[in-house]
Amino acid sequence: MQFHMPVMRREVLAYLITRKDGIYVDCTVGGGGHAQAILEAISPEGFLIGLDADAEALSHAEQVLSRFPNKILRHTFYDNLEAVLYELEKVPVDGVFFDLGISSFQVDVERRGFSFQKDAPLDMRFDQSVGKTAADVLNTYPEEELGRIIREYGEERHWRAIVREILRKRAVMKIETTSDLVEIVRAVIGDHFLNKSLARVFQALRIEVNRELERLQRALEQAFNVLQKGGRIVVLSYHSLEDRIVKDFFKLKAARCVCPPEFPVCTCGKVQEMTVLTRKVVTPSPEEIRANPRARSARLRAAEKIIPFEA
Ligand SMILES: C[S@@+](CC[C@H](N)C(=O)[O-])C[C@H]1O[C@@H](n2cnc3c(N)ncnc32)[C@H](O)[C@@H]1O
Repeated sequence: MQFHMPVMRREVLAYLITRKDGIYVDCTVGGGGHAQAILEAISPEGFLIGLDADAEALSHAEQVLSRFPNKILRHTFYDNLEAVLYELEKVPVDGVFFDLGISSFQVDVERRGFSFQKDAPLDMRFDQSVGKTAADVLNTYPEEELGRIIREYGEERHWRAIVREILRKRAVMKIETTSDLVEIVRAVIGDHFLNKSLARVFQALRIEVNRELERLQRALEQAFNVLQKGGRIVVLSYHSLEDRIVKDFFKLKAARCVCPPEFPVCTCGKVQEMTVLTRKVVTPSPEEIRANPRARSARLRAAEKIIPFEA
């Protein structure tokens, strides 16, 4: 089984690599597909730091990348980016890359609980050594919180009825497996549009379990801090909420003024800190989508730091 086909490989390299002897960070090394492409594109004087919260993914990446001496892989969440780079004395860097979400491998491995097509314990943690599982969320969160998660992160229209069914079910039994959750959603939606709703509910839980949106917001700020002038952030996202966070972050960094529009003169003192390189979001070619259907929702955004690095 191929671990994960790197999405928009050529475009990622074109936006990310500004110097062949530069230092680059792959915050979501996964199966090592993009990391390998970056290491092949840079010279032996260049360096790659790879992070992933998933220990299994990282040990696979260690094998894939074993022939490259100019790299270090670390098992950590990407909102530890700044701390890791300072500890390794690899600051400032030339580029930081994020390929958000989940790898094909994680979806395909039954026991991780990411897929509604496989019966497994409801885990869904990228790092299985810490934090709440999806089952913990379903069995312990108050009604309003469950509603917010399924509505906001899943963008599921029937969130109210699904939450009611979760509460009804958990009053009589512990919700433990992906099949338990499938039956809950089926009881509300029926069979007709079931898979679409299941995809949304599973996605919502995964985002909550791994605190994906909060971590992304923090990591983008850290990525900006560790970049040198001319360095770039490149992000592949697969979900509208992630893409919105990236877009808004770049927009704020590229703004020259953040005063309310009714102010006659600027008083905010804001300076432009980045240039957005992707005026329009970049999407995969039809050929790539044909070859790798999992690439179809990918959105690439990139921006370049235009102010000096400050330690
Ligand atoms: C889409 S995959 C990356 C695939 C990779 N680019 C490749 O070519 O094989 C996303 C990876 O990011 C990891 N991940 C997701 N959120 C993370 C976080 N907050 N911190 C660190 N890793 C994270 C997941 O464990 C997964 O392995």
